[in-house]
Amino acid sequence: MAFANDCATFVLSCLLLLGGFGVARDSFACDPKNATTAKLSFCKVSMRVSDRVKDLLGRLTLQEKIRLLVNNAAAVPRLGIKGYEWWSEALHGVSDVGPGTRLGGAFPGATSFPQVITTAASFNATLWEAIGKGHVQQGSCRTHWSPNVNIFRGPRWGRGQETPGEDPMVAGTYAASNVKGLQGNNGDRIKVAACCKHFTAYDLDNWNGVDRFHFNAKSTVSPPVLTLISYGRLYEVNGNSTCTLFQIVSQLGCIIIPNIKLQHLKKQLQMPSKQAWTWTVDLSWRSTVRMQ
Ligand SMILES: *[C@@H]1O[C@H](CO)[C@@H](O)[C@H](O)[C@H]1NC(C)=O
Ligand SMILES: *[C@@H]1O[C@H](CO)[C@@H](O)[C@H](O)[C@H]1NC(C)=O
Ligand SMILES: *[C@@H]1O[C@H](CO)[C@@H](O)[C@H](O)[C@H]1NC(C)=O
Repeated sequence: MAFANDCATFVLSCLLLLGGFGVARDSFACDPKNATTAKLSFCKVSMRVSDRVKDLLGRLTLQEKIRLLVNNAAAVPRLGIKGYEWWSEALHGVSDVGPGTRLGGAFPGATSFPQVITTAASFNATLWEAIGKGHVQQGSCRTHWSPNVNIFRGPRWGRGQETPGEDPMVAGTYAASNVKGLQGNNGDRIKVAACCKHFTAYDLDNWNGVDRFHFNAKSTVSPPVLTLISYGRLYEVNGNSTCTLFQIVSQLGCIIIPNIKLQHLKKQLQMPSKQAWTWTVDLSWRSTVRMQ
C-alpha cells in the first residue's frame, strides 16, 4: 500500500505543521491538556516533522490510514486525533461553499476579491500574494483547495473565471505567489495548507453527465468567428494549424474550422467567391469536434 502510505504522509505532515498556527482553537490532535496524548512521540513539537510523521504512520492501521484519505477524515480516538474536514475554498476570498468553513459569529462573512481571471490580468505578483494573505486572515479553517491553476483552454469550460487564464507561465507565477501569501513565509510553519487544483486537464473532463469533449461547433464557434470576420480581424490560415479555440475568441488572428463549417460560414456571410479562405483542421482538433 505504497499509495496509502505516501498520501498519509502528506496528510499527516499537513496536520502536524498546521498544529503550529498560533490562533487559539480546539486542537484536533495532540491535545496538550491530555497527559496520555502528550507522551506520544508524534505530538512532540521539538522533534523533526519527518520523525513525527514516521512515528504516527507506525501507529496507524491500514484501515485508519485509508479513512484519513478522504476530505471528511475520520477520527482516530485511540490516538487522540479528531475528525477533520479538509474541504474549504478560498479562490478569491474565503468561501462558505466548502463544508470545512463556517462563517458566523465573529466572522459573519469574508471579503470577496475579484475573480482570479481579472486579478491575473494585472500581472502583479505582489498583489496575488497580498490577496492570499488576506484570505488567511479571514479564514476559520486551515486547509484551502485553492488556487485553481488549470489552464483555461477554451470558453466551453464553465469554471475558467476561477483560473489565471491560458498562459502556463502566468498560471505558474500566480500559483507560487498566491500560495506564498496563503501559507506564509516561515519555513515549515505554515498558516494554512494551500492545495492547488485540479488534476491535469480537469477543464476537459466528463462530469455529472456533462460531456465537454464534444460540443456543438455551430453554436460554439460561429459567433466569435462571425464577429472576427465582420471586424476584419481574421487571418487566413493555409495548411495544418495548431491554433486553439481560445485564440479565436481572444482575436489572436488564427482559426481552424472544419471545411464543412467553412461552407456554412461562407454561405451565411455571402462571401465573394474570389476570396479564398482556406482552413484546414488538424487531426486532434477534428477528433474533438462533432458537427451538428
Ligand atoms: C486522552 O487521549 C487518549 C488517547 O491518546 C484518549 O483515549 C483519552 O480519552 C483522552 N482523555 C481525555 C480526558 O480526553
Ligand atoms: C502591485 O500590487 C501592489 C499591492 O497591491 C501595489 O502596491 C503595487 O502598486 C502594484 N504595482 C503596480 C505596478 O500596479
Ligand atoms: C497536415 O497534416 C497531415 C497529417 O499529419 C499531413 O498528412 C498533411 O500533409 C498536412 N498538410 C499540410 C498542408 O501540411
